[in-house]
This record gives sequence, C-alpha cells and structure tokens, in this order.
Amino acid sequence: MAAEQAGLATEITMPKQRMLTGITTTGTPHLGNYVGAIKPAVAASHQDQYESFYFLADYHALIKCHDPEEIHRSTLEIAASWLALGLDAERAVFYRQSDIPEIPELAWLLNCMSAKGLMNRAHAYKAAVHENEAAGEDADFGITMGLFSYPVLMAADILLFNADKVPVGRDQIQHVEMARDIGQRFNHHFGGHFVLPEAVVDDDVAVLQGLDGRKMSKSYGNTIPLFLSEKQLKKHINKIKTNLLEPGEPKDPESSAVFQIWQAFASAEQTAEMRAAFADGIAWGEAKKRLFELVDAELAPARDRYQALLEAPEEVESTLQDGARRARDYSRPMIERLRDAVGIRPLV
Ligand code: TRP
Repeated sequence: MAAEQAGLATEITMPKQRMLTGITTTGTPHLGNYVGAIKPAVAASHQDQYESFYFLADYHALIKCHDPEEIHRSTLEIAASWLALGLDAERAVFYRQSDIPEIPELAWLLNCMSAKGLMNRAHAYKAAVHENEAAGEDADFGITMGLFSYPVLMAADILLFNADKVPVGRDQIQHVEMARDIGQRFNHHFGGHFVLPEAVVDDDVAVLQGLDGRKMSKSYGNTIPLFLSEKQLKKHINKIKTNLLEPGEPKDPESSAVFQIWQAFASAEQTAEMRAAFADGIAWGEAKKRLFELVDAELAPARDRYQALLEAPEEVESTLQDGARRARDYSRPMIERLRDAVGIRPLV
C-alpha cells in the first residue's frame, strides 16, 4: 500500500510555476538591463520547473514615449537583444503586448474594479505630482490617464495569464502588489478566477552603476548600451568616472563603478583577483582595459546574432507572431470566462 502510494506520488508531476514579466519598449537595452533582467530571464527560459511568459510591453511604452519611430525601433531592438542572448523562444512564450487584444479588454474590466484611491498611491503617479508641486505647476500638469492607470494595465498583463511569479526590479514591487489587490477584489466579487501573483526580486543580481556612478538608467543618460561595436564599447568603458588616484595607489573597489561592473560579469575567482589588483594600486587605464576584455568576451557572440536579427526584422516578427498565437491559446478562453463572469455574454 505504502509502495503503491509512493509510486503514485512519482506519477503526479508538480504543476509548473508560471513566471511572467514585461519589458517596456523604450530606449536601447544597456548593460544594467542585461545584468538585472535579461540574463536571469534567459537562464530561467531554459529551466524545466518554470513556464516563462516574457513580453514586450509596448502599450506601457506609450505612457512615457510619444515618438512612433522610437517605439517601433525599440521594440525591434529589445526583441532582437533577448533572442540574440539566447532566450529559448520555443520553450518560453515570447510575445508583444499589443498582439494580445485580451489584455486591454481585461484592463477595462479591471479598471471597473480598481479603487481610484489605490491608484492615487502609485509611486510613479505620486512622483509626477510631487514634481509638479515642486515646480509650482498644477498638480495634474502633464499627467495622462495612461500614467494614472498604468498599474491597472500591468495587473491585466499579469492576471490574464494567471502568473504565479513576477520577476521585477524593486521599483515595480508596488505594481505587483496592486495587481494582487485588484485580482483579489475581482475574485471576491465574481468568483475565484485569478491566481494572486507574487513579485520576485532577486537580491543577488547587481543594480549597475552608470558612467557617472549613479544607477545605470536611461533617464540619467549614463548607460553603456548592450550592443556596441568593440571600438564603441571600449570608448564607453573609458568614460566611466574614476577618481584621481595614480597607478600604485590602492583603490577602493566598493565605491568604484569599474569594479562593480567587473563583478557583475566575472567569476568569483576573477572578482577576487580584481579586488587584489585594486589593493595593489592597479592603474585605472589598466582596470578599464581588463573590464573591456571581460565584457566584450561575454557579449561578442551575441553581438553578431543581434546585428543579423536587426537586418532580418521579418524573422523577429515571425517569432513574435508565433508567441502571440501561443499566448492567445491562454488568453482567449480566459477572457471568455471573465466576460461571462461579469455578465457580458450572448442573450441566448
Ligand atoms: N512596468 C514594467 C517596467 O517598467 C514593465 C511591465 C509591464 C511589467 N507589464 C508588466 C513587468 C507585467 C512585469 C509584469 O519595468
């Protein structure tokens, strides 16, 4: 009997955890995006215990970018980056948000279940209001309904696919919690339709410093783009801000962007070596030269694939279309069920 039970237990496979995350399609991917998001997501796409959903959040991009060429270009660049870096697009479902009409449809259903007061507390919106107040403007100056209801659209992205885990940066935790709140309210009123998602923040992945030592971010204009020519990569690395310590003078690794980026790409052994070199007073020029070599070695193979994909947008498009078909295999029945739940259904 016990043996039979044991046999049965091995037959039952654990349901896979569903991971889902979105990438806003503005700008060109940089080293910080790579280390913080792309690399771990690509690794997860190869793991059997997860079912990964990754999508290009182009509706979210419209919130902060009104330049059609940039949205279009960035969508290609980001998709090509993920594919060039080895995303397993057969195993993971890789799609573009705007190819899934069920997302905006659900966003409306959720808008009707989301407290305005909850949205008032969203960080991105509050920051915009504070900036206006500091500048002596009207509190609502320049604030669109897109920005205000951003967390509702994000909740739709997540809840539509019943994601268990949502890997995000710290700044997005609040949005995932709002998705939980909204999902819970919907479930409470209309029945248990949604899995309540959890944010996953990896404390081990580095938040890279940029050229000026602040967090590497498009909004600070201090980034090192991910796919540069060798020459350009070298140039950017040479621009990383350092202090005036001479060769031979010991340098502090912890406060150095050069060391920190090194650490994000290096093995534990290489990191220990560089730490020792800092203590020995390695020249900044030499440290940067080694950093270039390390980063270049990791990115060079993907760089060629990336260029090839940029020149073959039809290939990227067809991968995204395939992803959309697979995503809609989930989202279509789900939206049918939700429409029915709220009372939007055929008369007979
Ligand atoms: N708002 C996220 C960001 O700026 C991107 C995003 C959109 C997202 N929809 C999502 C992330 C759903 C996780 C889940 O980083």
